[in-house]
Amino acid sequence: MLLGVNIDHVATLRNARGGVEPDVLTAARICKECKVASITTHLREDRRHIKDEDVEAIRMLPRVRLNLEMAMTDEMQAIALKLRPHAVCIVPEKRQELTTEGGLDVAGQVDRAIEFVKPLIEKKIEVSFFIDPDLQQISAVSKTGAPFIELHTGRYSEAYGTIDEEKAFADLKGAALFAQNFGLKVNAGHGLNYQNVHRMHEIPHLVELNIGHSIIARSIFVGLEQAVKEMKALVEERGK
Ligand code: PXP
Repeated sequence: MLLGVNIDHVATLRNARGGVEPDVLTAARICKECKVASITTHLREDRRHIKDEDVEAIRMLPRVRLNLEMAMTDEMQAIALKLRPHAVCIVPEKRQELTTEGGLDVAGQVDRAIEFVKPLIEKKIEVSFFIDPDLQQISAVSKTGAPFIELHTGRYSEAYGTIDEEKAFADLKGAALFAQNFGLKVNAGHGLNYQNVHRMHEIPHLVELNIGHSIIARSIFVGLEQAVKEMKALVEERGK
């Protein structure tokens, strides 16, 4: 499995003081030196953490694979078409939420989703939809032409270590297998941390995990390089 590191919260900290520290591009460079598979940023409508100029600067870094998370809006589609990131992950977005709270409802807007991804796919951007482990949503994505889904691991992460863990994990694994039967490639993320990430190895053929909060939180104590390397080792464990 590959690790994509979400560096949004470096920008959250920077924006708390409105200055330039900590520098998002330095964070991206450290992740690159650690040879992560991608650097992920979520350009939110309200630009509360990552800003347009951050994404543009990361995009310009050589040999960095940028995974741009964004809402299914005309504004974001235009930005993606101009920027041409390597990958786009389409996420739901509510202004008041602290973080992305649930998966996108693709089943309720399949026609819109097909129309939205078409020009992105034509530009050879790898498109994924961030969805809950829900079979109806997976069948809907399979109609859009997007090659990837990213499964929302939030429920599993919250249930980890409780009596609800097995059910949440079984839902995730079942959803991944169901999606793979449709020929979809499967990424996963949200709420994964150093304790709960190991069970992702029990799900066959996951491509990439996108992890942000736990890595940036740990980096405060051990430094970003060390925090990324530790997570990368857990995600890439050979032979699993
Ligand atoms: N994947 C997606 C689509 C997300 O929206 C987020 C949160 O921005 C993540 C992964 C990473 O979640 P976390 O910060 O909890 O690791």
